[in-house]
Parts: sequence; structure tokens; C-alpha cells
Amino acid sequence: MGRIFSGIQPTGNLHLGNYLGAIRNWVNMQRAHESLFCIVDLHALTTHPEPQKLQEHIREVAAAYIAAGIDPEKSYIFPQSSVPAHCELAWIFSCLTPLGWLNRMIQFKEKAGKQREQANLGLYAYPVLQAADILIYKATHVPIGEDQKQHIELARDIAGAFNRQYGQDYFELPEPIILKTSARIMSLRDGTVKMSKSDSSDYSRINFLDDTDLIAHKIRKAKTDSDPISGKPEAMEHRPEALNLLGIYATLANLTLEEVCQQFEGSTFAPFKKKLIEQILAEMDPIRKRMIDLLKDQTTIDTFLKKGSDKARSLAFHHIKEIQDIVGFLSL
Ligand code: TYM
Repeated sequence: MGRIFSGIQPTGNLHLGNYLGAIRNWVNMQRAHESLFCIVDLHALTTHPEPQKLQEHIREVAAAYIAAGIDPEKSYIFPQSSVPAHCELAWIFSCLTPLGWLNRMIQFKEKAGKQREQANLGLYAYPVLQAADILIYKATHVPIGEDQKQHIELARDIAGAFNRQYGQDYFELPEPIILKTSARIMSLRDGTVKMSKSDSSDYSRINFLDDTDLIAHKIRKAKTDSDPISGKPEAMEHRPEALNLLGIYATLANLTLEEVCQQFEGSTFAPFKKKLIEQILAEMDPIRKRMIDLLKDQTTIDTFLKKGSDKARSLAFHHIKEIQDIVGFLSL
């Protein structure tokens, strides 16, 4: 039985892409695996959040995990900053990671943009910390959306570099788990870019805390085209917005894209959107309500986070001691 690790940045605007690409799959996986679901606040620091906002967003992500069905008694829910061993291992990995590997990271290039010289070191070293997040627990499986695949491949390379450097098989290479239909949920305004927390248009995404009317409004406004739905997904490849909505429906209804295309073949988007709104509300409305209830009781959220941190810290402590010994630090 493997161990699962995954995480989300507490940068606000948690959205349907985070849910379908990640959290929903975690809920299913936690039954069969020891699972750690982290709130990666150290990573969020690369965007310089206001301290009070950061605290708010950490609790919001915790509430979303629990509201979506992560069991805080069984799985570990905790903020990354509460386990110092993430940073300790990140440093050890930094000393084994060639700059050439980091220079290939697409997310850094996207986030740094033309201001590369101004980008902070944290943003550049971000994937090294991500590798440490996973490997400090010797996690074997990492359920994520498609956009994180390159970072997990780097984590595998770093684990291999450590094993080679110290002549040991200490780390097993972690496997990314990416589900096909929900791997990449796209913006509701532009089907060629992913749905994202940082998109300046709130109409590009469905947020966890959006109410019923707002969700219906956003889907009605979502970009589509005037052609009818084709019975075959291949025939819609040049219609990214249309394909995205059909993909969201397929994931929520636990159907394949082919099945959804067949079901709505010949229909225009207005009646399809009505059905899609129903599907989204059926899943997201109860989650929003539970999340709002949980957020009223900060003490309970903090108690769960404390419990998760204690369990994560003790597992990480055990591994960091072994790693310190392997690299040759004195245990004093
Ligand atoms: P973050 O916070 O950007 O996203 C959290 C999770 O949501 C997935 N995701 C999506 N899936 C489908 N469609 C989308 N539009 C979409 N947008 C986001 C992401 O793939 C991710 O699974 N670097 C990570 C956080 C992290 C991490 C880790 C993840 C830090 N350490 C260790 C796994 C393991 C990030 O920024 O995710």
C-alpha cells in the first residue's frame, strides 16, 4: 500500500479546476491509502500575500478539503510551514539540482514572464521545495492536474540524483496520478488557457464559494459557439470552449467524453448548459454550504490542522533524521 501526498497553494479563489483536477480524486484515494493533503503556504509566499489574507486562505483551503470529503481524522490535513523538515530537505535537494533542470520548468517561465531578472529565488526554487514536500514523507503517489506533471518528473529526477549521490535506494520514485477527463479544466472565457486562481476575470472560473445564482450566471455567460454538439469529441477539437464544458459535464457525471457527446449530439449549447448547471450545482452546492459552516468555526479548523501537523511532523522527523545521517551530518 502506497502513501499519497498532494497540496494546493492558499492563494484564494479555489476553483472547479482544483476540485476536479485534484481534490475530488483525493477523496476517492484516501480510503485505500495513507494520505497527506498539505496547504502549501511556503509556496504561496512567492506571491507576497498580505499576512492576514494568507491566514484566511489557509483556513479556506482546509475548509474546502473537509467540505469536499477529505476525512480529517483519517488523512493528514496541515499547513506546509508547520513541518520545518520540508525546508531542510529542500536545501539538501538544492545542492543536488543542476540549474539546467530548473531552467526547463514551464511554470517558472510562465510566472516570471518577461520580468525574469526580477523574479524571486523562491519562485525559481519552487519545484525543489515541491520535491521535498513529496519525498520528506517518502510518498509513492501524487494525484495532481496535468499542469503539475513536469514538477513531479523533476521530483523523480531529484530523488534519483539523491540515491545516486549517496549510493542508496533511499527514495522510491513517486508516481504522478493524473485522471484523463479532469486533468486540465480550462477557463470559461478562453478554452486555450487553464482555469486559474490568478486569472483577472472572475468569469473565467467557478469558485468554491460562488453561490447558486452566480454559478448559473457564469455558465450561461461561458463562451461557446453556435454550432450543434457533435457526436464525436474528435470532431470538436477546434472548438476548445465547447469541449471544455463537455469535459466538465463528463467528469461530474462520471461519463466518458464520447458518452456525453453521444448523449447531446445535435443539441445547441443553451439546453446543454442547463444540464451542466444542474450537474455543477448538485456537486458544488453542498460543498459550499459545508464550507461556509466550517469557516464559522475557526477553532475546529485549527484543531484539525494541529492534529494533521502533529502527525505529519512526526513522520517527517523520522525521515529527516535518516536523511541527515545518510548525508553525513552529526546527530548531536
Ligand atoms: P495549485 O495550487 O496551482 O493547484 C492545486 C491542484 O489543482 C490542480 N489544478 C488543476 N487541475 C485541472 N484543471 C485546472 N485548471 C487546474 N488548476 C489547478 C493542480 O494540478 C494541482 O494538483 N505546485 C502545486 C502545489 C504543490 C504540490 C506539492 C502539489 C506544492 N507541493 C507537492 C503536489 C505535490 C500548485 O501550485 O498547485
